[in-house]
Amino acid sequence: MANNLLEGKRGIISGALDQNSIAWKVALKAKEQGASFVLTNAPIAMRMGAINDLAAQCGAEIVPADATSVEDIENLFSKSTEILGGKLDFVLHSIGMSPNVRKGKDYGDLNYDWMLKSIDISAISFHKMMAVAEKQDAMNEWGSIVALSYIAAQRTFPDYSDMAQAKAMLESIARSYGERFARLKKVRVNTISQSPTMTTAGSGVGGFDVFIDYADKMSPLGNATADACADYCVSMFSDLTRMVTMQNLMHDGGFSSSGITERLVEQLKK
Ligand SMILES: NC(=O)c1ccc[n+]([C@@H]2O[C@H](COP(=O)([O-])OP(=O)(O)OC[C@H]3O[C@@H](n4cnc5c(N)ncnc54)[C@H](O)[C@@H]3O)[C@@H](O)[C@H]2O)c1
Repeated sequence: MANNLLEGKRGIISGALDQNSIAWKVALKAKEQGASFVLTNAPIAMRMGAINDLAAQCGAEIVPADATSVEDIENLFSKSTEILGGKLDFVLHSIGMSPNVRKGKDYGDLNYDWMLKSIDISAISFHKMMAVAEKQDAMNEWGSIVALSYIAAQRTFPDYSDMAQAKAMLESIARSYGERFARLKKVRVNTISQSPTMTTAGSGVGGFDVFIDYADKMSPLGNATADACADYCVSMFSDLTRMVTMQNLMHDGGFSSSGITERLVEQLKK
C-alpha cells in the first residue's frame, strides 16, 4: 500500500539485524512510502552481514554506530545529513539488549555492571541520539523521533528482568526530551509499546513462545505483528500525526486494556 506518505522525507533507521527485526520491516515500508534514509547498527552486528542485503533493497547507505558511544552517534548524524543532502525528518531507535537477560541471570542476582550496560544500550542511547541531533541541528521542524518500548515498563513480566527498568527509563526520556524538542525545534518524540514479537531480541527472553501465545490470547485483536508495527512507525513519521508527542503509544492488539479475554478463559477451562 504505497501512498507516498514519506515522500521527500529523510531519516535514520537503527536496529535492523535480520529479516525478523522490527527495524527491517520499518525500512522496507519507509522505502515503499518514498523515504530516503541511512541504516545503522552496532559495528559488531555488521559482521552478520544481513544489513547489506537490506541496504541494497532500499538503496540506503549504512553508517555503523555503537549506540552507547556519543562519538559514533555524532559521526552517524553528521554523515547521514551529508549522505541524504539535508536535515532529517525522522529517526527510529530500535535498540535493546540486556547482558543479564542474555546470560540468564536471576533478577535477585543481577550483575550490576551488566545492568548499567542494559540501561546504557536500551535507554540512555535514546537520550544520546536526541542530544546529538539537537546539538548538530540535524532535525527539520515537525520531524518525528520514535523508539520501541514494551509494556514491562508498566507491569511486571519476570523474565524481562532489568529490561523493564530500561524501558521505563526509555519512556521517561521520550517525555522529557519530547518537551524540550517540541519547545526548541517543533520536533515530536514518542515511544511505541509493541506486542511480543519473534525477533532476536524478543526470543532472548525466557519462555518466550509460551508468553507470546498468552499475549496473543489476551489481546482481542491478537498480537500486533512486526509488519503492523512498521506501519504504525510510518504513520508516526508522516505528516498525519504532527500533534502527537511525548506519548507512549500502545500497539498491542488491545492487550494493555484487557483484564481477561474469552479466548484465554476458554484455554484455562481446558
Ligand atoms: N521483539 C519483541 O518482542 C519486542 C517487543 C516490544 C519492543 N521491542 C523492542 O523493539 C526494539 C527492536 O528489537 P527487535 O525485537 O526488532 O529485535 P532485534 O534483535 O532484531 O533488534 C535489536 C537491535 O539492537 C541492536 N543493538 C544492540 N546493541 C546495540 C548497540 N550497542 N548499538 C547499536 N545497536 C545495538 C542489535 O544489533 C539489533 O539490531 C528493541 O528496543 C526491543 O526492545 C521488541
